Amino acid sequence: MSHAIRVFDTTLRDGEQSPGCSMNLKEKLTLARQLERLGVDVIEAGFPIASQGDFEAVRQVSREIRGPIICGLARTPALDIERAAEAIEPAAQGRIHTFIATSDIHLEHKLRMTREQVIDEIGRAVSQARGFTEDVEFSAEDATRSDPEFLVQAFSVALEAGATTLNVPDTVGYTTPGEYAELIRYLIGEIPGSDKAIFSVHCHNDLGLAVANSLAAVGAGARQVECTVNGIGERAGNASLEEVVMAVKTRPDVYGGMDLGIRAEEIYSSSRLLSSVTGVQVQPNKAIVGDNAFAHEAGIHQDGVLKAAITYEIMTPDSIGRASNELVLGKHSGRHAFRDRLDELGLHTEGEEFERAFKRFKDLADAKKVIYNEDIEAIVADSAMATEDRFELIELTITSGNATAPKASVTLEVDGKAKSTVASGVGPVDAIFKAIADLTETASELIRYQVHAVTAGLDAQGEVTVTIEEEGRRVIGNGVHEDVMVASGKAYVNAINKLEWHRQRHELDEPRGI
Ligand code: KIV
Ligand code: ZN
Repeated sequence: MSHAIRVFDTTLRDGEQSPGCSMNLKEKLTLARQLERLGVDVIEAGFPIASQGDFEAVRQVSREIRGPIICGLARTPALDIERAAEAIEPAAQGRIHTFIATSDIHLEHKLRMTREQVIDEIGRAVSQARGFTEDVEFSAEDATRSDPEFLVQAFSVALEAGATTLNVPDTVGYTTPGEYAELIRYLIGEIPGSDKAIFSVHCHNDLGLAVANSLAAVGAGARQVECTVNGIGERAGNASLEEVVMAVKTRPDVYGGMDLGIRAEEIYSSSRLLSSVTGVQVQPNKAIVGDNAFAHEAGIHQDGVLKAAITYEIMTPDSIGRASNELVLGKHSGRHAFRDRLDELGLHTEGEEFERAFKRFKDLADAKKVIYNEDIEAIVADSAMATEDRFELIELTITSGNATAPKASVTLEVDGKAKSTVASGVGPVDAIFKAIADLTETASELIRYQVHAVTAGLDAQGEVTVTIEEEGRRVIGNGVHEDVMVASGKAYVNAINKLEWHRQRHELDEPRGI
């Protein structure tokens, strides 16, 4: 943990709060393994008191992931801290991250507490957390709209009570780079004994400034950056991990060549894996990981890049592990080659899940000549998702065309038993969805349907994303297959399974409050 800048990844906690990005235990574990390979210092795995699902995710990640520090979030009440402590208890290195708002706006309208009460609460919560672990982070929620003098008081009390990391969140994405840097400098200068703590920053992207603000804070002395893969997170998202990392790496002249400890070659796989798991694709022009991030379209640019890449390229696709179009496996590749490739991609699957993925790979290799890394990542994410589900797509047949009414016959496994039906629709996807809705008895509403090609080429696998909503709960399902109709059926079933999973998850009345 000697990296000059610690990378605190909150994809599994703040990121998971993005609409449609909630993940089940298996999905969180798959991502946590990838975050470990990426080399993050801290994984914030969830908010244990928020739900049984979050508690189990933090506990399971704590058991399995041994490299990074595993962190559980807690408000200040004693029960929150106890629950977080219980969840991180199996971790090799566990952290409790406790927070309370410090802005007058939050004190008056949300907490209905006085400043004195907030100060008492901070001292009590941090001391309690220190009773469970030596690694305690304190966050002053809405710090950037708080009175700076009160912030000094709040952080001083947290430090005295034993906090080792002091986090200054820009909770509502309100600050600007110059102002934020000034605040960090002021806090470091004014808090007695500030050299004993790591100052951390946590920026939201409401004004599109999350990365700029985080980097400005690093320039002012912050030594932990909280961020998420693909910048997912509450509302407009959090600071994007890949953008922060590549800015620091690409501009050592500006950031003094500070070490972040990140294996940048794992960035692209991390981004792809997250998109596969959540079904949320990044926009094509997204910095670093978007489809067009390294595509030179204008003739004058192409000419320059062909003559010397340095003319228009400030970093290479290879540096983030984007060696796309790499032929990896074919139909003659066997189990060993497949497992080796999974290991190289850092996709560790075992048992039933491995068998499922291998079968999918063989089927795909029969249908498609060339299989790329992206195909394998999509297959594995798809196979991992299927294992704890109530509904499974077994068979799907469609008749459709310009002279016949579209019809779909669908067989699902429902609670272990096969059930079939036939439905017609306006188009083949409509027919498939009607049949599935009938078999699952879902009351959800279809909000969005999107198709995306996993790789280039006419034989590319189709990745379908389906957004559905029921009683205000919105989820995204994902399905991958060389036949887009099958991918559509899988995506819809996956979304319905996610709703099912939420129904079974016990949520607090006010689960997040942040
Ligand atoms: O945005 C925020 O303030 C948070 C805190 C819990 C750190 O997510
Ligand atoms: Zn946040």
